[in-house]
Amino acid sequence: MKILHVVGARPNYMKIAPLMRALGQYPDSFEQVLVHTGQHYDPQMSQVFFDELELPRPDINLNIGSGTHAWQTAQVMLHFEPVLLEFKPDWVLVVGDVNSTLACSLVCSKLGIRVAHVEAGLRSYDRSMPEEINRILTDQISDLLFTPSQDGNANLLREGVSPEKIHFVGNVMIDTLIRMLPKAQTHWDHLKEKFCINDKGFVLVTLHRPSNVDDPHILSEIMTALVEISQDLPVLFPVHPRTRQRVNDLEKETKSSQMQNIEPLGYLDFLAIQAHAALVLTDSGGIQEETTYLGIPCLTARSNTERPVTITHGTNQLVKSDTGSLITAMQKRLMEKPLDLKVPLLWDGHAAERIVKVMLEISSGQLHL
Ligand code: UD1
Repeated sequence: MKILHVVGARPNYMKIAPLMRALGQYPDSFEQVLVHTGQHYDPQMSQVFFDELELPRPDINLNIGSGTHAWQTAQVMLHFEPVLLEFKPDWVLVVGDVNSTLACSLVCSKLGIRVAHVEAGLRSYDRSMPEEINRILTDQISDLLFTPSQDGNANLLREGVSPEKIHFVGNVMIDTLIRMLPKAQTHWDHLKEKFCINDKGFVLVTLHRPSNVDDPHILSEIMTALVEISQDLPVLFPVHPRTRQRVNDLEKETKSSQMQNIEPLGYLDFLAIQAHAALVLTDSGGIQEETTYLGIPCLTARSNTERPVTITHGTNQLVKSDTGSLITAMQKRLMEKPLDLKVPLLWDGHAAERIVKVMLEISSGQLHL
C-alpha cells in the first residue's frame, strides 16, 4: 500500500513523525512518501523539527509560503494535484487542522484518492476560527477518521459520519512527547542558565491566534498583563513570526526586565521549558494537550476550545484576553496546589501503532470501507 503523508505547518511535524516511524516497521506492507506544502518555511518553524524528530527529508516540497487563506489554500491545491497524479498513492494521510490539511484533502476527494484524517472530530463550535472550518470540511470528505478523544467520535456521529469510518486511537502528538521527553530533559540545564529561569519558577507564553495578536488593542492588553506578572516571576515568550512585528511595535510600552521575548524554539527546547514551567499561557491547540499530559497548569486565552478533555481531565482553563482577567487568572493559578489530574484515555504513546493496525487490516483486506 502506498501512503502519502502531508505536512505543512509547525504543529503537523510531531503528529506525522510517530506515524512514519510506526508504518516504517512494515516495509513489506507500506511504501511512504512525504510531501511538505511549505506553508511554514522559516528554519525555526520547519527544518529544526525535521532534524529533532528525525523525519525524513520530504520527497516533495511545494514551497507555497504565506498569503491570504484563499491564496494559500488555492496554491496548495494547484501544486498538490500534479504530485498526486505522479505518485498515485492508495491513501493520503493528513493531520490536524491547518490550511494545508484541508487543501490536500480536497484535492484527493476530487481525484477519488482516499484520505485518512488523524486528529479527527475535534470541534470548538466557533466557525470564526479558520481551523474549525478546516476540521469540519476535512472530516466530511475523509474516508477514515482517527480520533484522539471520545468527544471526537460523538461530534463526528452527530455530523452524520458513518461509524465504520471512525476509529478512536488516542493522541499521536503525545506519542512524540513521550518518546522525546527524556532527550528534551537533557537540554534543561543549558536552557535554565541561558534564560535565567528555575524549575517551576517562571511563566511560559505562546500566542499566535489572529483573535489575540492581529488586533493591536487586544495584544496590548495581553502584553500589559504579562509585564505585570513579570514583576513577580520571569516570563518567557517565544514569539511566533506572525506575532513578531506586532510585539515589536508594542515593546517600547511593554518592557520589563523580567520579561524575555525570544525567537521561536525548537521542539526539544520548548518541551524541556514547558515541563519546568510554573504556568503556561497559550492560545495553541497542541500546548493545551502537552500541558495536560505533563501536569503543568495551563491557561488558554480563548473563549472556547476544540480540546475539551484538557479541561475536564487535564490542567487547562480558558481565560479572556483582557488585562484584568489575565492577571487575576494567572495569579490564582500560580497560588494553587498541584492539580489532581487524569491523563485522557489512550494518551499513552501508542496511538500511531493503533493507526498502523487499522491500515494493516485495510491493506490485507480484513477491513473493508
Ligand atoms: C498556522 C495554522 C494554525 C497553527 C499555526 C501553528 C492555519 C489556518 N493556521 O497559523 O492553525 O496553530 O500555523 O504555527 O493553517 N510566517 C513566517 N514564517 C513561517 C510561517 C509563517 O514568517 O515559516 C508568518 C508570515 O507572516 C505569515 C504568518 O506568519 O503570513 C502566518 O502564517 P500562516 O501559515 O498563515 O498561519 P499561522 O498563524 O502560522
